[in-house]
Amino acid sequence: MMGGRKDLVIFSDIEIESALKKAANRAPGEVIREIRESGLKGRGGAGFPTGVKWDLAAKADGERKFIICNADEGEPGTFKDRVLLSDYAEQLYAGMALAAYSVGAKEGIIYLRGEYEYLLKGLIATRKVVRGKNLLGKNIAGKEGFDFDVYIHLGSGSYVCGEESALIESLEGHRGEPRNRPPFPVTMGYLECPTVINNVETFITALHIAAKGAEWFRAFGTSKSTGTKLFSVSGDCLRPGVYEFPMGITVAALLKEAGGENAKAVQVGGASGRCVGRSEFESTLAFEGIPTGGSIIVFGEHRSMLGVAKNFMEFFVEESCGQCTPCRYGTTTLLEGIKMLENRKCSMRYLRELISLGESMQIASKCGLGQTAPNAFISILKNFKHEIMVGKQTEQAIQGE
Ligand SMILES: Cc1cc2nc3c(=O)[nH]c(=O)nc-3n(C[C@H](O)[C@H](O)[C@H](O)COP(=O)(O)O)c2cc1C
Ligand code: SF4
Repeated sequence: MMGGRKDLVIFSDIEIESALKKAANRAPGEVIREIRESGLKGRGGAGFPTGVKWDLAAKADGERKFIICNADEGEPGTFKDRVLLSDYAEQLYAGMALAAYSVGAKEGIIYLRGEYEYLLKGLIATRKVVRGKNLLGKNIAGKEGFDFDVYIHLGSGSYVCGEESALIESLEGHRGEPRNRPPFPVTMGYLECPTVINNVETFITALHIAAKGAEWFRAFGTSKSTGTKLFSVSGDCLRPGVYEFPMGITVAALLKEAGGENAKAVQVGGASGRCVGRSEFESTLAFEGIPTGGSIIVFGEHRSMLGVAKNFMEFFVEESCGQCTPCRYGTTTLLEGIKMLENRKCSMRYLRELISLGESMQIASKCGLGQTAPNAFISILKNFKHEIMVGKQTEQAIQGE
């Protein structure tokens, strides 16, 4: 599918052993500088600059440091990490070793989504191969003292455990609930030790940067969103799948590649993302445009957009950990409101209250789950008011009149 293209990072060729050797022949600070200069931002959704994260962990006090790969991939419509874990696991282990060398960590953990249990066997087999090549273990890449190995932990199928502090709680054997932050994991993470948590795609991208340089990487994408991104495209399109494109590609161009030109809507960023209609198809997929961890769900003309909003809200009601009131109360109340809209029993006044409740959740929820749970509902109401509208009064409420 990607054959012959020159604008690839993840799906470009790489000599894994020489990439790690090259890094190990440099000082850790130089490797971090290269990652910083590349402008790489985390591919798990939040977009925190990877070089800055590694630098903070490198400078944090602590005898013991950890590298954690977030392979929880629970966002509806995302499956690009599954492809990487299946077919690019050698690169993942080497990318984690690169991070370990940079920050001075000796221990790594892959937090694997519970539903991906079937990938465990393959990951263990690949780890054996990688150890055999001396890319994990002792004196990695022939560098004295570069010791690092990876343990794999299987999650239990909770979406919120993809949130980094809940992930750490879960790893420590507690209930998977988000922590108050600060302190951030880079200074006080797993077992209260400095911890780097990155997405699968981030580690692999960093390995390519270490091998080919920051300048090479910056040539792809936009000035604020450098490099390329993997997109998991699903739904009403002819060619669903995982695509790699430079950051800044438009929604329309991606739809064309996937055979989804007839879409009436696209949910960018999964359940926690936002729903865009045709008027926004020329917008770019980038941190400064419409950001996404990679999930792109295409909706054809025949889909009920209120049904889509209901489906996502049911997901959030199920997955909310219930720890804080805005999210616990907000998700269930929004779902009830959607059902009232379905039954044409939602007054203008109440609809306004629901929108305002959603806006409060965005500000007052403790973690990203509650902060983003109303996004789909609000954007679908705004973009598809003519479909959802049950009368003039409802339209006025949506427009905030
Ligand atoms: C509810 C929720 C679920 C998340 N799930 C994931 C996930 O499955 N994978 C992931 O990499 N990041 C996920 N994140 C983001 C992580 O908290 C964290 O930002 C990320 O792992 C950092 O890696 P990165 O900088 O490489 O993106 C989630 C965040 C929230 C709020
Ligand atoms: S926002 Fe939701 S998921 Fe996050 S801590 Fe609060 S209740 Fe839990």
